[in-house]
Amino acid sequence: MSTPSFHALTIGECRRETADTVSLRFDVPPELADRYRFAHGQHLTLKTRIGGEEVRRSYSICSGVDERELRVAIKRVEGGVFSNHANDALAAGMTLEVMTPMGRFTTPLDPAAAKTYVAFAAGSGITPILSILKTVLAREPRSQFLLIYGNRTVSSIIFREALEDLKNRHIGRLAIHHLLSREPEEAGLLSGRIGADLVRELCAGPIDAASVDAVFLCGPQAMVEEVRDTLTAAGTPAERIHLELFGTSAPRRASATPVSSDPADGATIAILQDGKRREFTLAYDGDSILDAAHRHGADLPYSCKSGVCCTCRAKVREGKVAMAENYSLEPWEVEAGYVLTCQSRPLTDRVVIDFDAA
Ligand SMILES: Cc1cc2nc3c(=O)[nH]c(=O)nc-3n(C[C@H](O)[C@H](O)[C@H](O)COP(=O)(O)OP(=O)(O)OC[C@H]3O[C@@H](n4cnc5c(N)ncnc54)[C@H](O)[C@@H]3O)c2cc1C
Ligand code: FES
Repeated sequence: MSTPSFHALTIGECRRETADTVSLRFDVPPELADRYRFAHGQHLTLKTRIGGEEVRRSYSICSGVDERELRVAIKRVEGGVFSNHANDALAAGMTLEVMTPMGRFTTPLDPAAAKTYVAFAAGSGITPILSILKTVLAREPRSQFLLIYGNRTVSSIIFREALEDLKNRHIGRLAIHHLLSREPEEAGLLSGRIGADLVRELCAGPIDAASVDAVFLCGPQAMVEEVRDTLTAAGTPAERIHLELFGTSAPRRASATPVSSDPADGATIAILQDGKRREFTLAYDGDSILDAAHRHGADLPYSCKSGVCCTCRAKVREGKVAMAENYSLEPWEVEAGYVLTCQSRPLTDRVVIDFDAA
């Protein structure tokens, strides 16, 4: 895996998808094409200055891997800094700093396999699911896909036409259930919300919980966790359920007790990045390792700073840290010593963190 890096990319197209969602297609120059090759379900971190402040936000790629375009879709969040800027001020021809693709909300493809995929998406949570859906349908001709997509109203359904088109082109392989939480049922669209009751109903019908090969969940944290827990209870093995959160409640701090010889001194932190080493001292109850490293001049990758995007992932080579939150590392990664540095604080006198670890 190459080190994530930002490059200035021009917006080739700015397309209105719904009243409150815009999609941006980036032009990737040929010399950067390899760096922006992505896996279905990955995301980009966009960086710009708004009102004099640097702002970074992550957006899932909604294109399929064979579509030869790099596109994200951004839905307005009330009072949100970047999402409103994107919807109101961005236009074709402008440039943004775009980080190379990241994220592991994806599974390997096998053209010979006949797998069963299920996805639950709500609102803007459709973006990575659309990439996964398009890619699986194109690359695994024998696999089947069931999508459950929740929105408030018909007019807020993002990519409605694109989804219809996919369904018509892949009859018998793609089924879509739309759910509307704020409008009565109408042709082909059901009324209701995604939750435990619906999942139990589907498990008594089209979803065979025990045999489904991969489940992708993307939407509000409460919905995603409720669906995951209900599917697990119905027999879906936990490792087949993949989650992507776009945000979470305010980040909490680590509260573990340091095991250092003298907690008063703070810990010595060494950061390894691009083959270079940087050392500094950090109080046990101080900043996160990521924030402290930035104060000491390091330029490390990050985006959400709340444990969801995984951009700040690195490996602990020496010592121990406490992570406050982790919504994005897989259990095997934690086992192997990977941490989210935006959530990590030292527990031992010496901690060595490697950003070059694949
Ligand atoms: C891996 C990843 C992929 C993402 N992909 C997409 C995507 O494809 N499309 C997309 O539109 N967004 C996506 N997001 C969310 C996106 O990064 C921003 O968080 C979102 O656009 C809000 O940013 P903002 O600057 O407008 O709001 P901010 O100024 O950061 O926040 C303003 C207020 O809104 C709240 N808030 C922030 N985000 C949300 C939210 N999603 N829902 C409800 N309230 C919120 C905050 O708590 C705060 O109170 C993704 C996030 C992650 C981590
Ligand atoms: S910056 Fe997003 S998980 Fe750390």
